[in-house]
Amino acid sequence: MRKITIAIDGFSSCGKSTMAKDLAKTIGYVYVDSGAMYRAVTLYAMEHGCFDGERLDVEKLRGMMNDIRISFQFNPETCKPDTYLNNRKVENLIRSMEVSERVSIVAALDFVRAEMVAQQQAFGKEKGVVMDGRDIGTTVFPDAELKIFLTASPEIRAQRRFDELKAKGQEANFEDILENVKERDYLDQHREVSPLVQAKDAILLDNSNLTIEQQNEWLLEQFKLKIED
Ligand code: DC
Repeated sequence: MRKITIAIDGFSSCGKSTMAKDLAKTIGYVYVDSGAMYRAVTLYAMEHGCFDGERLDVEKLRGMMNDIRISFQFNPETCKPDTYLNNRKVENLIRSMEVSERVSIVAALDFVRAEMVAQQQAFGKEKGVVMDGRDIGTTVFPDAELKIFLTASPEIRAQRRFDELKAKGQEANFEDILENVKERDYLDQHREVSPLVQAKDAILLDNSNLTIEQQNEWLLEQFKLKIED
């Protein structure tokens, strides 16, 4: 059967990764979480003295870009790929609030995006990939056969992130998370390079009132319709 490229874009904490990962597993495709890559660069910058509080030394990070290697390894226990930064597993560290608060600044830099987009295109060059992010259907794979744009209300998204952090035993405050969600929406939509925007040929899904099973079913249906085209 012919393989296609599937791009899932949308606002933060919409459940894009859950949806993309579940579909990839069901149809035997590779799943790539592009947000994890921007998070890993942010963690690297934090660990190498590029941040003073939330202020970033852009030139320092620019000089370090060649030292940053991001990869993924499938974890059979969680059935998800774990993110590795220079061969060190950083899957949990990149999900912390400290990283979440700084990642939009890093993801807005043109030299960071150029490097990440090139790596993402390399991951998808054989097709058979499901990638989620903000600019997958517009910049990374503008020719993707199936493009989804996912959205949900900020309150529902904040609640989902709150539940996720709590489940992992991490510190979480609902109001702080809601503020972070809204701030990231604004930054993602208003940055100069590759802002978050729905591709013209993307299918819009608001999953505010859908269960994970319902959204997975809907997505599998979209996939089937595409490959039958
Ligand atoms: O999906 P996420 O919350 O893990 O993404 C982390 C950050 O990275 C988010 O602020 C937006 C940014 N991002 C991006 O700019 N482009 C992508 N393709 C994926 C994520």
